[in-house]
Amino acid sequence: MSNRPRILTGDTPTGKLHLGHWVGSVRRRVELQESHDCYFILANMHAFTTRSDKTDEIRADTLEIVRDLLAMGIDPERASIFLQSEVPAIAELTFLFAMLLPYNRVMRNPTLKDEIRVKNLGDSYSFGFPLYAVGQTADILAFRPVSVPVGEDQVPHLELTREVARRFNQMYCGVSDQAEDDDHVAEGGVFPVPRADVGAVGRLVGIDGENKMSKSLNNAVYISDTAKQVQKKINKIYTGRQSATEPGDPTNVLMQYCEIFIPDADRVAEIKDQYARGADIGDGHIKQELGAAINELLEPMRERRAKYEGDDAFVIDVLREGTRRANAVTEETLAMAKEACSLGFFDRTLELS
Ligand code: TRP
Repeated sequence: MSNRPRILTGDTPTGKLHLGHWVGSVRRRVELQESHDCYFILANMHAFTTRSDKTDEIRADTLEIVRDLLAMGIDPERASIFLQSEVPAIAELTFLFAMLLPYNRVMRNPTLKDEIRVKNLGDSYSFGFPLYAVGQTADILAFRPVSVPVGEDQVPHLELTREVARRFNQMYCGVSDQAEDDDHVAEGGVFPVPRADVGAVGRLVGIDGENKMSKSLNNAVYISDTAKQVQKKINKIYTGRQSATEPGDPTNVLMQYCEIFIPDADRVAEIKDQYARGADIGDGHIKQELGAAINELLEPMRERRAKYEGDDAFVIDVLREGTRRANAVTEETLAMAKEACSLGFFDRTLELS
């Protein structure tokens, strides 16, 4: 496991995982655990940026996400699912990295700006809110990963991460400012300059057909929805089409979903062709077929999830083991980073129990 290339990605626990998470990231994670040493962070401290008064909810969401990940096929023997809050190296690196980024550079991050707008944070957000973007550079670099599988919305955070890696290596490790990104480690840098690995579906539109699928917009199909709930949500998709003989827009949300969730590509091509021509194919019929395909995808996940329902002790065991492995890697990184910053005074070991 340990000589495989390492990757890191993860989620902020703000609710259960949905189909957007599956197609945007988790599907790819399930593949990568075959070939890579995978670390999946539960960014529970980041959840405090906007919900510091709802700690019980954050804890419950954190455990639910572990269940979702296991349900979707993440294997805790092969991949390490861990708690951000129990990896002290991340907090320590955040402080060091915060010095490498001009304040205004952090505030220019378009993902932060979007969040401030979408969540109506105005100018009343905490100091800790923009700090999470710096923290995310530490989440990532603590693992010195080759790449970070993420959805499109995370790309600005990856850009910030790459800047931090370059600056750290240049300032503290003597890496030339002419060095190519791929040469930083060979030239003595502590940190590789990691790539964003954006999945084929970087952004899944919600069942409203307009916005990105997300819990807060009430347009999500959850991994833990029942078959009935799934079909009901699919039936709600609005296309504006009046009849089976009206030519439909082959790029609308219904057709996008067919492309993503109906596995038989020939069948998808056929549906799209008939749809575009209005060749007697009704939305209702397509929704049935689509709902069935999504339920076929979700059924094995539901079965697996049922095994962990209500079993917090099992989930916490998974987290303890994953966090132990995460600390082994990140303590090594932190020691290297401290050495480079003339902070290498003593060795230390961490223990979880
Ligand atoms: N910000 C990410 C999200 O909201 C979650 C996250 C935190 C993350 N740390 C990370 C993702 C490190 C990738 C790498 O989805």
